[in-house]
Amino acid sequence: MIIHLKTINGIKIQCTEGENKILSLNDDLYIYKAINRELDQMKNVILNDQLVYPKLFYTEYFHVYKNEHSKIFKDNNLRHDITVMSGDLAGIEFMKTYGHYHEILDGTNTPAPEVIEILHGNAILILQKPHKITEDKKRSINDMYDFGDITDVHIFKLKTGDAFVIPPHYGHIIVNQKPTVLVFSSLISARAKSIYNGIFNYKGGAYYVIKKNAKQVLVQNPHYKHVPKIKKVKKWAYNNIINNKKVPTYSHFISNPEKYSWINNPEEFNWEQFA
Ligand SMILES: [Fe+2]
Repeated sequence: MIIHLKTINGIKIQCTEGENKILSLNDDLYIYKAINRELDQMKNVILNDQLVYPKLFYTEYFHVYKNEHSKIFKDNNLRHDITVMSGDLAGIEFMKTYGHYHEILDGTNTPAPEVIEILHGNAILILQKPHKITEDKKRSINDMYDFGDITDVHIFKLKTGDAFVIPPHYGHIIVNQKPTVLVFSSLISARAKSIYNGIFNYKGGAYYVIKKNAKQVLVQNPHYKHVPKIKKVKKWAYNNIINNKKVPTYSHFISNPEKYSWINNPEEFNWEQFA
């Protein structure tokens, strides 16, 4: 089945269910590369590592933009990625991304923030903050945090059109909460690097999302030393720094690139104040 996504500032993409493919309809879409995330690697983070199906979990498309916008992305040193995720279950667990943290951005003392937006479908976003073991400035988050000791977990349910700011310091996992394809975009520094060991070493995020008696249930991951209860937040204050949701993030960035300078200069904000 082909799903036609909304047109995002001239980018028309269609997605083929089961193949996680995006196609340009107007032939002027640049995609730097695509990476399939398959079962063998996902076994590092899923509840049941004996599964033999599904083979393909999701596909990440990196540096996706209309050719005519290439200079804007280059000048602002940002990357726009699109992820297409199947609606299959992995055993009893809902389909999800590996999950990762972001490394400290070169030239700053802060990990990279990120803006994600749901283009199609419904997602559960799990955010987890690890315990900081030093206030000293470090070059890598691996020297700053105890990834087995989680101090905060937030869960958000996101629907098509929702944009969301992932602040620095938070690990994040995106779960597909429906049996249909999930497509989401990410706007992030072109210098940003993802750090996976903080998740892989504990067999996934702080919580697994499983299907039990036809319901979604969050199950605490026992491989961590400490996982707190989920904090319910009605309004995510960090979202105040992006557009008002009426315009897709891609289009808003193309028209107002200066409003996204904080993505490469995260120290413009005192992130704790937004919490
Ligand atoms: Fe990320």
